Amino acid sequence: MWGQRLLSFPIIRPEQILEKEFDVLMIVVSSSCSVKQIKDYALRLNIPKEKVIDVFLDVRFMDLFVDQRISFMKGYAEWINSRNIEGNVAECGVFRGDSAKFINRYFPNRKLYLCDTFEGFDYGDLQYEKGENNQSFNQSKFADQSFFAETGVDFVMSKMIYPEKVVIKKGYFPDSVLDVKDRFCFVNLDMDLYIPMLNGLRFFLDKMVYNGCILLHDYFSDVFTGVRQAVDMFEQERGINIIKTPIGDGCSMALIRN
Ligand SMILES: C[S@@+](CC[C@H](N)C(=O)[O-])C[C@H]1O[C@@H](n2cnc3c(N)ncnc32)[C@H](O)[C@@H]1O
Repeated sequence: MWGQRLLSFPIIRPEQILEKEFDVLMIVVSSSCSVKQIKDYALRLNIPKEKVIDVFLDVRFMDLFVDQRISFMKGYAEWINSRNIEGNVAECGVFRGDSAKFINRYFPNRKLYLCDTFEGFDYGDLQYEKGENNQSFNQSKFADQSFFAETGVDFVMSKMIYPEKVVIKKGYFPDSVLDVKDRFCFVNLDMDLYIPMLNGLRFFLDKMVYNGCILLHDYFSDVFTGVRQAVDMFEQERGINIIKTPIGDGCSMALIRN
C-alpha cells in the first residue's frame, strides 16, 4: 500500500521516515513479535532508540489504547476506589498480560492475583470443548493447544507498573488458587472455555463484595460459546439469576454481585 492513503494519511516506506522531521516513532501494533521486528528495523535505520516507542507497553501512552473493555475497567476501578469499596482483584486467563497490566494500573493499591497455566489451555478442558461439536471453535486457531503457549511469568511481570502488588498463580485453575481466601471487588475471567469459566464463577462469586464485578470476556462470542453456557449452568446449579450488563464491546458481559 506504499504511496496510497489510509483515512487520508499517507502510507510511506519505512526508509522514508528518515526524510521527515519527527519527535517519536510510535509502534501501534498489538503483536509483540511484530513490535520487535519493527523496533529492530528502526534501529537498523539508525533511528535513536529513545525515539522508538511501543505504545502498548510504554506507560506514557497507555491511555491511547482505546478499547471498550479497558475503558470499562478504568471506569469501574475509579468508581470502586472513590467509594472505598474493599476487596482485591484478579484475572484468570492472563496470556501475555495485555489486559492484566491495565488492571494492575487502575487498582494500584490492591493485590492482583494473576492465574494462568502460562502454557496454554489444559488438555482435558480443550478435549471437552472439542467434544461439544462447535464447528466455529473446532475450525478456529484456538482449537490448537499451543495457541496460548507463547508466554511466561517474567514476560508478563515485565509489563506491570506495580509488580509488588501482583501474586502469580501459575498452574491449572482452580487448583492453583485453593489457598486463596480473599474477598474481591473486580475479577476478569478470560479463559475462553466452558470448564474453566464455570469453575471461575464457582470460585469467585461467593468471594465478591457487594457491588463487586466479574467481567466475562467472550460472553457474546460465536467461537467461545462455552462462556455463555457456563453462566447458564452456574445459574441453574445455584438457582439464581445474576445481574448482568453488557459493557458495549460486543463481546463482554459484566456480572454484578448484589
Ligand atoms: C484469551 S487468553 C487470555 C487473554 C488476556 N486476558 C488478554 O486479554 O490479553 C486465555 C488464557 O486462559 C488460560 N487458561 C485457559 N484455561 C485455563 C485453566 N484451566 N487454568 C489456567 N489457565 C487457563 C490460557 O492459558 C490462556 O493464556
